[in-house]
Amino acid sequence: MAGPRGKPTTWRIEPAGPLRGEVAIAGSKNAVTKHMVAAILATSPSTVRNAPRLGDVDITAGMLRSLGAQVAVEGHEVTVDATGLDESRIPVSYTGLNRVPILMVGPLLHRVGEAFVPLVGGDRIGNRPLDYHVGALRALGAEVALGDQGLEAKASRLQGAHIRLPFPSVGATETVLLTAAVAEGRTTLENAATEPEVVELALFLQRMGARIELQPDRRFLIEGVDRLEGATQHLGGDRIEAFSYLVAGLATGGRVRITGCAQDRLVTAISTLQRMGARFTIDDDGIAAEAPAGTLRSSAVHTSPHPGFMTDWQPPLVVLFTQVAGMSVIHETIFEDRLGYVEALQHMGGEIELFDQCLVGRSCRFHERAWQHSALVRGISELRGAEITMPDIRAAFAYVIAAAAARSPSVLHGVHHLERGYDRAAEKFSSLGLIIAPSGGP
Ligand code: EPU
Repeated sequence: MAGPRGKPTTWRIEPAGPLRGEVAIAGSKNAVTKHMVAAILATSPSTVRNAPRLGDVDITAGMLRSLGAQVAVEGHEVTVDATGLDESRIPVSYTGLNRVPILMVGPLLHRVGEAFVPLVGGDRIGNRPLDYHVGALRALGAEVALGDQGLEAKASRLQGAHIRLPFPSVGATETVLLTAAVAEGRTTLENAATEPEVVELALFLQRMGARIELQPDRRFLIEGVDRLEGATQHLGGDRIEAFSYLVAGLATGGRVRITGCAQDRLVTAISTLQRMGARFTIDDDGIAAEAPAGTLRSSAVHTSPHPGFMTDWQPPLVVLFTQVAGMSVIHETIFEDRLGYVEALQHMGGEIELFDQCLVGRSCRFHERAWQHSALVRGISELRGAEITMPDIRAAFAYVIAAAAARSPSVLHGVHHLERGYDRAAEKFSSLGLIIAPSGGP
């Protein structure tokens, strides 16, 4: 089967020893689409620079065009001109493709007073309910109804509110920022997410004319304004892509240097790998990680909201754990079902056992529920190549690392998952020495 835009859907990977070289990290996937959504709040054009080339950008551009906005994606620049936006409904054909539609509700209420968005998709890593988004939209004055096909909302006027999120959700924080920025009066958002991509969106909105303050206690204060103007922003580097390539080098006994992602986005990633014995060389232009054979140590890590160890760094780390002597532990506390991908790693020879208990750190929200959200990894495992299917973006990259570390070739299906989230992954992996033969396209 051909993938989106006729791209190959399968890679055959020949392990070719340690991955070595330099990778230029693109702008962040989880910021670019949000900036594109923010741009429709304005009636003058906005430009996002250093945009990654990803499937998710194309999907989001398609949604915005269906609303009457003009979107130009040229190289690493995306321009959105929503002057002519006059539609309030995103076609149901966008059902399940990514998490962006729910973020469009607030901006559409501002622009056209009503919105229909199909049910959001994204990776299957847990239930991913929308209750925080819906609660926040209602608090800000929207009438919201959830139907079989999607979410309908209308609002004659949006008004500021006091909102406290039950958990610091990235998406729900973004929904509040994108809606409260143009509501009447003040919004206080407590227990907000403060991930760099969320702050980056707040900065973009500030450039557009929004009045937003971030207090040190996870609190955003937003003073609504009548209108926003288009703005331009250069995106910061993708910290998930950066970590993933650094780990690809370590897991294969090589050395990868990344450029284009600031050190302050990777503090916890670097300290976690340093604790395992990785050696870093950091200067103003880049970050390199290496570990001479046999020097990496096992570790125990739990994922948590920023500035903790992020959930999207977890799948590559688990592959690295299989290549480190001793017992390592991971406790996933953000998404209840984000370890399903380990089955394929077990099939490749990884010794990984799943638990429904909270194995490291404090008990999390999934404590005493049936979700297998902790894993014990015994290394070093000699991984065998296998024929496997990528289930989601982050697992997809983890499988490529595992295939690169394996002793025999692998066939990986579902490459469109990788292309939805990683800028030119085939080119970048090939430049590190991985031998990839694509197939499955037209
Ligand atoms: N949650 C609710 N109700 C809600 C919203 C969230 O219960 O209404 C729960 C979720 O089920 C989850 C937790 O809150 O247990 C955190 O979810 P969050 O809302 O923070 O996640 P998200 O906004 O859906 C974004 C990224 C994810 C990343 C998470 C956490 C995008 C498009 N996605 O998801 O990235 O893992 O934040 O940082 O920004 C990825 O890029 O592969 C990816 C999955």
